[in-house]
Amino acid sequence: MSHYFFEGFDTVKLAEQFGTPLYVMSMDRILRAIGSLKTAFEGNIDDIKISYAGKAFLNRAMCRIVKKSGIGLDVVSGGELYTALCSGVDPKDITYHGNYKSPAEMREAIESGVGVITVDGREEISALDNIADAIGKKVDIHLRVNPGVEAHTHEFISTGKTDSKFGIPLGEVGKAAKMAKEAKNINLIGLHCHIGSQISLPDPYSLALEIMLKTACDLREEGINITEINMGGGFGIRYTEADDPFDLEGFAKNMGENLRRLCSKLNFPIPKIIIEPGRYIVGPAGITLYTVGAVKNIEGVRKYVTVDGGMNDNPRPALYDARYSALAANKADIPAEEYEKVTVSGRSCEADTLIKDIYLAKVVPGDIIAVLDTGAYCYSMASNYNRLAVPKMVMTYGDKAEVIEREQTYEDLIGRDIIPSWL
Ligand SMILES: Cc1ncc(COP(=O)(O)O)c(C=O)c1O
Repeated sequence: MSHYFFEGFDTVKLAEQFGTPLYVMSMDRILRAIGSLKTAFEGNIDDIKISYAGKAFLNRAMCRIVKKSGIGLDVVSGGELYTALCSGVDPKDITYHGNYKSPAEMREAIESGVGVITVDGREEISALDNIADAIGKKVDIHLRVNPGVEAHTHEFISTGKTDSKFGIPLGEVGKAAKMAKEAKNINLIGLHCHIGSQISLPDPYSLALEIMLKTACDLREEGINITEINMGGGFGIRYTEADDPFDLEGFAKNMGENLRRLCSKLNFPIPKIIIEPGRYIVGPAGITLYTVGAVKNIEGVRKYVTVDGGMNDNPRPALYDARYSALAANKADIPAEEYEKVTVSGRSCEADTLIKDIYLAKVVPGDIIAVLDTGAYCYSMASNYNRLAVPKMVMTYGDKAEVIEREQTYEDLIGRDIIPSWL
């Protein structure tokens, strides 16, 4: 039987060597994705910065890739910031985001000298100003604007007042900007928006860009100089054939043309544009390998293939019915006509359906299943439900494969438990 190869690696051998469940991350794929983003956007927009959204997948190896690639990094918590700083990412290349920042996190961000803090609401402005004052540092900020554009795949809606916990409603941006202008320790230099994820067409971004530029123009009337606009992330990837392809080159071209056209129409100097993709950079770079544990055929109902991982290493299907493609890695040469419909289930004590109704080569216990495109929002969303360990991660690069994160041990699982004095 022939095996499924991922970036030159025999995945069955990887499973044998490192055990399963196993996250496999290809650094070559990550570098290629960053390279294609740079080529597309740098060719269409003069002043562009790519900033990787660390929430998609962040550990110390990933931080090193970000640093090596010369791109920026978005973090949303003290933990992500700490990981980045420990890995040698220059604080100036870090943007600190999030709709909640504790006073301690704001202090950590300011003290470490992050490049920009993206402010999510008016209350944050005075809190940041006070903390910056106490530390004796000035902070550059962007205001996260809720532009009233919501996008998901190719559908998008434009509403006057989108119901969202993120960002400052359009109608309140003026007030927030004025507050920032008056705050002694804050420099308001930019506006930010993020309109959704898995977006495949440029139209919602065009609308959002127009709204952002008009908002920047309005602020200019108030004497506020916006020189940077962050258009967020959200670029789609193809988890299955049902997902639309994302035309990166066409997308970047469209954004560049729109930017020049709108700036000229509004007589506004072309700002620096920042994009912050996460999934696009790491999603297709990862796969997860599982061993089949049981095959249960409920006659006339469904055939369940249970694997040794599941929602604790990939909660996306359970959270929002995310769909994945997969294959039997040790039976890669079985023709599709011989596939059978099965449901791949995880091992946790929940429905834990990893992939419902997928066609796979006939598998038996001990076979290896590769779930594809698991590089984004799987490891970063993993949990210890059922006291299951978060799996090991191996990174491949050229002909090398090394563990970049060991699996959790039983000791790790009880490591933070404290038995109270009365027990
Ligand atoms: C503010 C912000 N920027 C960037 C991203 C990255 O999105 P994606 O991974 O879809 O590119 C997110 C995702 O939630 C986000 O909230």
